[in-house]
Amino acid sequence: MVQHLRRLRPKQCCQFFKHYSSESVANAETKSIPSPKQWSAALHRLSVMQQSRFGKQLHKYVDKLHDKYGPIFRESLGPVTAVFISDPHEMRRVFAHEGRYPIHVLPEAWLHYNKIHKTERGLYFMNGEEWMLYRKLLNPLLLKNYDGQHILDNCELMVNRLIDEWYALSDDGEILNLEQKLYELSILFMVAVIVGSSFPKHVREVRPWTGILAKSVRDIYKESVALSQISVEFAAKWRLPAWRRFSTVVGTSFEISNELIKTMDKMVSSDGLLYQLRQCNIPQEKINTIILDFILAAGDTTATTTQWAMYLLSTHDDIQTKVKEEFENSNLRETCESDLMRGIVRETMRLYPVAPFIARFLPQDLKVFDSYIIPAGEMIILSVYSSGRNGLYFPDPDEFIPSRWERDEQTGSLKGVVDPFATLPYAMGARSCIGRKIAQTQICFSLATIFKQYEVLPMALVDMILHLIPVPDKPIQLHFEPRSNLG
Ligand code: HEM
Repeated sequence: MVQHLRRLRPKQCCQFFKHYSSESVANAETKSIPSPKQWSAALHRLSVMQQSRFGKQLHKYVDKLHDKYGPIFRESLGPVTAVFISDPHEMRRVFAHEGRYPIHVLPEAWLHYNKIHKTERGLYFMNGEEWMLYRKLLNPLLLKNYDGQHILDNCELMVNRLIDEWYALSDDGEILNLEQKLYELSILFMVAVIVGSSFPKHVREVRPWTGILAKSVRDIYKESVALSQISVEFAAKWRLPAWRRFSTVVGTSFEISNELIKTMDKMVSSDGLLYQLRQCNIPQEKINTIILDFILAAGDTTATTTQWAMYLLSTHDDIQTKVKEEFENSNLRETCESDLMRGIVRETMRLYPVAPFIARFLPQDLKVFDSYIIPAGEMIILSVYSSGRNGLYFPDPDEFIPSRWERDEQTGSLKGVVDPFATLPYAMGARSCIGRKIAQTQICFSLATIFKQYEVLPMALVDMILHLIPVPDKPIQLHFEPRSNLG
């Protein structure tokens, strides 16, 4: 994800491309990629950065540039220059040309931490042959043969209990620390996938770990935001407070996750991910790093998306009424698989994509829009936030309309979507999100459980800002009213 691109050093990118070719794609005429003029861009950027307090509004800045220059432009953000693309057809072509070992941008703070502490990391941090080896092993387990039904069976009791507990601990219906509670739910769900069908028996044993881990993973995110404002190398060299805090929370999260993994080791059943990874003859240490990264990856991604979905439903009475009517007489599984639920989740991710920018470096030159050449090795940023909110692809683009994802019975086409590829919340291609099926099950299941039992009301309106991922500008406060009280 590109949220850390401002901190990426060009040298870091270049070393990947030593052996990449830069042969001419075509000898036909090519145009130069639109780009803000240097001096006006500098002034513009300065004012935007000032207004946006260091990039909280980066998504809007990029959106404005697309309005001005069209679906492609070249711009510098900090030390890195990138080509931004918001056209769905060309975005797909970028994924199609990403080569055998697709390369994305890695967060600099994490890279630096891993280097200093010689920490081995999971799939997201791997490249080349190593990445390919593990991705091939993991794809069948998490995507091809993933059994959502069976995960739901293992999680049903836990999700129900957790949500009852939220309400029991609420302040007269106001759910306290909602975000952190959702982090814990995401981590517990991931634990269920790792442990398998013995999970319900062991929930009590893992809860103390997941509770602390949720806080710690959320702190990593908070400290990453603080570090994204300054040079990581400088902060680390001079042991600035931001770097020290980041290192401490990362270290703590690793320690807790390792303890959790040891605990899970004793519980695992044959349908658990941990057991299945062992069957693949992967060294134990590698398994631990892969599992640990899955737990961390599950935290803010699914928690943030679930939180936005809850907020959107709470602020759309009409859709919440529809949810109530449609879900009243169906069981949880039917609810999860309904068109309405799928539409709710797709709309949430279109409006609030966890990765609003996705970056790639291509191994060869690519000709786009039949006119422009993007040289091999140049950073390409896919403006997923802008394409997802473009009226050309989604009429009334800023509106939350889950029914736009329903199909017209006569024509078979989507009712309110011109190009579904204009929203790519999980990216595309070989390096796309490997946890997407887990995330989808968890988000649908959590929403179904909550909205079947409670009417959810907003206590204040919020706006979206970018803190590496799209977050509310103030904590989302929601009031739960049991449907049984409403008659
Ligand atoms: C709403 C939830 C989620 C969203 C929106 C999301 C989004 C993404 C995106 C956009 C990427 C591609 C990043 C890039 O190429 O730069 C990605 C990669 C990845 N995701 Fe997710 N993710 C979600 C949940 C999860 C979960 C629950 C897991 C846990 C298994 C997970 C594990 C990963 C991993 C390991 C990668 C790296 C894959 C690779 O490099 O081959 N994600 N995710």
